[in-house]
Amino acid sequence: MRLEGKKILLIIGGGIAAYKSLELIRAIRKEGGEVKTILTKAGTEFVTPLSVASLSGHHVYQDLFSLTDETEMGHIELSRSADLVVVAPATADLMAKAAQGLANDLASTTLLATDKRVLMAPAMNVRMWLHPATQRNVACLKQDGIGLIGPDEGAMACGEFGPGRMAEPLAILEVVIATLSAPASLPLSGKHVVITSGPTHEPIDPVRYIANRSSGKQGHAIARAAAKAGARVTLISGPVTLPDPEGVQVIHVEDARAMLQAVEQALPADVAIFCAAVADWRVASAGTQKIKKEKAGPPHIELTENPDILATIAQAKTHRPPLVIGFAAETEHVLAHAQAKRIKKQCDWIVANDVSPASGVMGGDQNTVHLLRGETVSSWPLMDKTAVAEALVHEIALALKTSSHENQ
Ligand code: PMT
Repeated sequence: MRLEGKKILLIIGGGIAAYKSLELIRAIRKEGGEVKTILTKAGTEFVTPLSVASLSGHHVYQDLFSLTDETEMGHIELSRSADLVVVAPATADLMAKAAQGLANDLASTTLLATDKRVLMAPAMNVRMWLHPATQRNVACLKQDGIGLIGPDEGAMACGEFGPGRMAEPLAILEVVIATLSAPASLPLSGKHVVITSGPTHEPIDPVRYIANRSSGKQGHAIARAAAKAGARVTLISGPVTLPDPEGVQVIHVEDARAMLQAVEQALPADVAIFCAAVADWRVASAGTQKIKKEKAGPPHIELTENPDILATIAQAKTHRPPLVIGFAAETEHVLAHAQAKRIKKQCDWIVANDVSPASGVMGGDQNTVHLLRGETVSSWPLMDKTAVAEALVHEIALALKTSSHENQ
């Protein structure tokens, strides 16, 4: 029971994903948490107050000016009595209101009045999500410290495809647990860490792809270590066979372009660590049908360069995380090549590792790394990837502590 004694205020907005919130209520209660709910007027078009009340075991709050609701619990008290406020589904309208500080109904007033942490799980049509107005609101909300979970990418109820689906209830549950269980005194408490991990798969046609041997073990170990150190962690993972680390928000992507988009959506962050083995190239025009084996011989496949995620984020004009860490996978002249990469990509630190086949690093359980911070090089002995992750997280915590002291 990972939410024993915890109180969650769930605001259910008006979107088709509202039905998933019923599952979320059950999942939170199964972990021992108490759920009070606010159901917006639009939300009642998708789920009934009766279902919400039956599942939560509590009265459902609906109106700002309801005499009964205000007598039972005023909206200010409602906003403060919870340990955490979760908005799911967070519609474009609710997010816009919260970003602007509007307070013209019970949900928006509660969001403005609360002194508790707020998590939002956006759900809307892909065009609405990608609209510059929504993206401006997203940036504002993140700036205000509101945590965003998702949205996921996939087929939508409206028939379109893309980002906008509400994150699955169990994924939201993990973030709720991680947020509530991070004690304020851990080394990375209150910090947001974004990590990429695993390979990317670049499609050739619907059945074939270009890949590499990265297993995700090192990146996932860093995500686990950062979460253990109290950080809110967003792990953007390429295709791997590893389970999602507990207490971490995991965004699954296939190719480099989707990975870059997911990283940009996850910002701002205090630290970004780029451990993924991103394919440098993709097929210029991937076939929509399986390429046939022709008598004329093998097909000519033209490659084009993928975006460099690390360089893009390290050189970003807005939302550049204060600490950007790259990895350098080298097979020769490890230190020299890694230093050149750090300077070229403009990241703060780079972790160099020898990935020549004899090292067994790609896919294996151990790693020998060198941490390059400017001209300073620390060479660590052969260690399990978990130990490398913990040592790296330790160095990160020290660096953030030092920089916060310097800024005081
Ligand atoms: O996954 P494992 O099996 O545990 O193996 C771990 C690992 C060997 C993959 C890991 O430790 C590692 O070295 N990751 C970086 C792999 C890599 O792509 O290195 P690179 O030298 O090609 O790239 C340098 C940096 O640029 C990396 O931070 C990489 O994530 C980033 N990059 C590269 C290309 C690209 N298009 N975008 C990027 O962001």
